[in-house]
Amino acid sequence: MARGLRGWLGGWLLAAATALGMVPPPENVRMNSVNFKNILEWESPEFPNGTLTFTAQYLGYRKFQDRCAGTNATECDFSDLSKYGDHTLRVRAERGAEHSAWVNLSFCPVDDTVIGPPGMRVEALANSLHIHLLAPRIEKEWAWTMKNIYSLWVYHVEYWRNGSDTRHLVTCHYDFEVLRNLAPWTTYCVHVRGFLPNQNRTGRWSEPVCKGIGSDDSILSWIVVAVVLAASVLAACLLLASCSALLWSIYKGTKYAFSPRNTLPQHLKEFLSRPPHGRLLFLSFPPADESDVFDKLSVVTEDAESGERPAAPGGGRGLGAPGGAACPPAGP
Ligand SMILES: *[C@@H]1O[C@H](CO)[C@@H](O)[C@H](O)[C@H]1NC(C)=O
Ligand SMILES: *[C@@H]1O[C@H](CO)[C@@H](O)[C@H](O)[C@H]1NC(C)=O
Ligand SMILES: *[C@@H]1O[C@H](CO)[C@@H](O)[C@H](O)[C@H]1NC(C)=O
Ligand SMILES: *[C@@H]1O[C@H](CO)[C@@H](O)[C@H](O)[C@H]1NC(C)=O
Ligand SMILES: *[C@@H]1O[C@H](CO)[C@@H](O)[C@H](O)[C@H]1NC(C)=O
Repeated sequence: MARGLRGWLGGWLLAAATALGMVPPPENVRMNSVNFKNILEWESPEFPNGTLTFTAQYLGYRKFQDRCAGTNATECDFSDLSKYGDHTLRVRAERGAEHSAWVNLSFCPVDDTVIGPPGMRVEALANSLHIHLLAPRIEKEWAWTMKNIYSLWVYHVEYWRNGSDTRHLVTCHYDFEVLRNLAPWTTYCVHVRGFLPNQNRTGRWSEPVCKGIGSDDSILSWIVVAVVLAASVLAACLLLASCSALLWSIYKGTKYAFSPRNTLPQHLKEFLSRPPHGRLLFLSFPPADESDVFDKLSVVTEDAESGERPAAPGGGRGLGAPGGAACPPAGP
């Protein structure tokens, strides 16, 4: 702004004008420009003989044009000026047909305008602060922000514990930032400003916003999250259990329907239920000659040789006694 505010009027000129009984010029002429809202401001000089009016002009194409003519206000809005290039503005005081000298001022909006405070929304989540940033809007241009005008634009986010003097500065290139690993049960304050790194030019800080970490709000939200999580896990378990039950019953039904085909013959079952035998069979492949494994077994009863009758009559029913050999010789 310093570059643009070059109001100049020699002290000697003011003294001469007063001495000659002329109208004194406006005082403290300055441009108050924030986000391209350009307001030329001045103060009315001491003038005992009635009220003064003012005329403010800008230099158009080789010619000064009125912007505020004969106003009794002490400001004039120049927001319609082109943002680029140097502009020459001037203002004078008037009283009837008399007027003061012009007070000149040069102004380059893109260089001289003040970068206003960005908007900010802060949410506390667990032990972090989530910050949504909003670049300052340009006056009368709804779609444009200051970020669109300056190609190199970043945010300075500064945060501190409430009541502490230690401040931490974070530079953000985007409109979202997360401050992590903050101390629990502590109130943090945050403010933000725009910054143009190539010009080392800073904007105005926003009003600080303070948020408590680990406040009741976030605890409550975590409880809600935990309950929802538990409920969904339970629901998933129930679903799984009912699915398993359904599948089991389908399996049972199918098995029953097809069981005759699926059942092994009884002798195979018995064969397989004797592991040593099965293993032997498995391990002795190719199978050994059966004569090596199984001996022939002949059963010969003692009765045939001793001639003694068995204790029980009708020994033919006795176990292991072949009928022919055990029978007593048939009587004549
Ligand atoms: C203001 O500028 C005009 C030309 O634009 C010039 O004639 C005049 O002398 C200047 N006034 C002062 C006080 O420098
Ligand atoms: C102001 O008015 C007084 C008379 O009331 C006059 O003598 C004086 O010259 C006037 N001053 C100006 C600057 O007009
Ligand atoms: C400015 O002029 C208007 C009329 O044009 C008048 O109503 C108003 O009171 C004046 N304001 C001051 C501060 O003199
Ligand atoms: C910050 O701390 C001050 C005292 O140091 C206290 O008055 C103020 O209420 C605190 N602000 C917040 C938002 O906790
Ligand atoms: C940027 O400006 C600040 C003061 O506004 C100054 O302290 C700092 O040294 C400057 N940095 C550079 C790189 O010029």
